[in-house]
Amino acid sequence: MTMYRLVLGALALSATVVGSPLATSYSDGVVNTTTCGSYSYSYDSMVGYGFLAGNAVDNYGDTIGFGSSITLERPSVKVTTLADGSKNVSAIVYNLPDRGWNTEGTTNFEPRIYKFEIAFQPKSGGSFKPNLQWRLVDTLILTDPYGNPLTGYDCDTKLRFPNMPHIPAATFENNGWYDFGGQNISVRVCFDAETLNVIDGSIENGFWISDEYGPYLYRFNSRGMMVEAIRPPEAFIPYRNGTESFSADSPRIDTGVDDDITPSDPDSGRSNNQGFEGGTLSPDGKYIYALLQSATVQDGGLKKYTNSYSRMVKYDISTPGESELVGEWVVKLPTFYNPDSSAKKNPRTAAQSEIYALSESQFFVIARDSGKGHGQSDGTESLYRHIDVFDITNATDIHSIDEYNVATGAVAPGGVLVDGITSATLCPFLDVNVNSQLNKFGGGLHNGGEQNWELLNEKWEGMVLIPADGKSGSDDKYYVIITSDDDFMTQQGFVNFGKNTYRDSAGYNLDNQALVFEITLPSSLKPFKDFPAGS
Ligand SMILES: *[C@@H]1O[C@H](CO)[C@@H](O)[C@H](O)[C@H]1NC(C)=O
Ligand SMILES: *[C@@H]1O[C@H](CO)[C@@H](O)[C@H](O)[C@H]1NC(C)=O
Ligand SMILES: *[C@@H]1O[C@H](CO)[C@@H](O)[C@H](O)[C@H]1NC(C)=O
Ligand SMILES: *[C@@H]1O[C@H](CO)[C@@H](O)[C@H](O)[C@H]1NC(C)=O
Ligand SMILES: *[C@@H]1O[C@H](CO)[C@@H](O)[C@H](O)[C@H]1NC(C)=O
Repeated sequence: MTMYRLVLGALALSATVVGSPLATSYSDGVVNTTTCGSYSYSYDSMVGYGFLAGNAVDNYGDTIGFGSSITLERPSVKVTTLADGSKNVSAIVYNLPDRGWNTEGTTNFEPRIYKFEIAFQPKSGGSFKPNLQWRLVDTLILTDPYGNPLTGYDCDTKLRFPNMPHIPAATFENNGWYDFGGQNISVRVCFDAETLNVIDGSIENGFWISDEYGPYLYRFNSRGMMVEAIRPPEAFIPYRNGTESFSADSPRIDTGVDDDITPSDPDSGRSNNQGFEGGTLSPDGKYIYALLQSATVQDGGLKKYTNSYSRMVKYDISTPGESELVGEWVVKLPTFYNPDSSAKKNPRTAAQSEIYALSESQFFVIARDSGKGHGQSDGTESLYRHIDVFDITNATDIHSIDEYNVATGAVAPGGVLVDGITSATLCPFLDVNVNSQLNKFGGGLHNGGEQNWELLNEKWEGMVLIPADGKSGSDDKYYVIITSDDDFMTQQGFVNFGKNTYRDSAGYNLDNQALVFEITLPSSLKPFKDFPAGS
């Protein structure tokens, strides 16, 4: 989720108990193994932790926020055995920042991706030194089809490019950085990037990014130029007063206002800052899936206790430029009990911030609460931060049912699923917050407790799998790396290509944290079959 403190600061969650008779789906504490349909998963151990310092800068001198998404350059994976018998796993990954430093308003950050070399030496514990290392290799600035950069500013208009639906855009003056009121007006594609997936396992084939302003899906070539855009069904598009309106009500840093649009919430379509937070390619690379962070406005999306019926779309992307909607399902997100909210306002939705396709029917999803963690004012103890599994085999495919897909078309008005639709099966799996696992790393990594650098960040939004054999996963063991989005919260920040500095007013220095888990997948799932890792 993109942070915007003025809007989201009101979410107050603070408590210690997970598990309550009020929670509808499930919430009974820790699950280390799960069976979803006929597939069994196990969480073997947390095996790694590492971070990139929160004040690290990229190749353009700007502060790095690396955690909105991560994708693997498969041929680069290497697994070697060290002298002491332990393993060293290394790879090239690409990470996606969110829309730039935005806790005090949106800015003219130019969206980009980072190339990192990572290496980790999996250990099941006792590691004080971070055992996952990050080395920045390169930074690639994204451009529109004409080669112009994009912007993190909230949207107020649209642009047209050949062979594309019209694209949400933002207008600004001069260079857009602390130099306002000029007469040189630019219009750029507004972009709030949330998921990154290289095509067929390698950046050479280009990549897909999902965004949450649209919410749209964009394909880029290997040089970072936008070459294709997908606009989802009208039910996903934000409408105000009967007209499409891509503003996320995330005012610009220079304006000092709380709302930059009336009404602040759309009347239908994706909720503000709740667009395509999850995105993944099918293991064979023929399809892209994108899942909303939580329900659309017309499906109960404006309240944390009615917004659990999210929607996922599936596009056939096998013919470049001719992508086609081929599936759509309702995914009921997990819910959890928050003792600080009244019974009426419980259970609350654990909104999702990434998905990963294990097959064409089973997916991992990162689902979590918000407002708890390092640098947050609502408390340190997160109540729900999971990698869960969902399965769409038995779910109703609604992609060709017009009444659900037209603007305002609802599948769960007021948060109640309509008769005749079955949502995806949700299976609880890996609890990130288990302190007995976290404590083994970094000299005392933790959830809850002291507000310090070893406290987990609030937002976990990137997820990637690496087969432990470094090839196609013959032994069914995989490492799952998850990354946190630190919202660029630092006291030594740089923006505008290193020309301006900032200090986040919350006063904290967050790091770009990452965790590694070892898991066993059901042997009938082989997500690396078509594009194996290793060279
Ligand atoms: C789908 O439904 C069948 C028949 O009721 C059931 O056996 C199976 O476990 C279900 N699969 C999932 C993933 O829910
Ligand atoms: C399994 O669950 C228990 C709590 O029931 C927890 O203490 C333990 O660390 C878990 N194991 C793993 C690998 O998560
Ligand atoms: C692990 O592999 C990487 C990439 O080859 C290398 O740079 C690093 O030094 C290795 N780490 C150890 C501990 O050997
Ligand atoms: C106006 O903007 C363009 C494009 O960013 C830039 O090349 C040009 O120098 C600007 N002109 C002035 C007067 O600032
Ligand atoms: C919607 O209508 C209201 C009332 O007429 C108006 O104040 C507001 O500016 C309109 N908003 C948009 C985005 O059109």
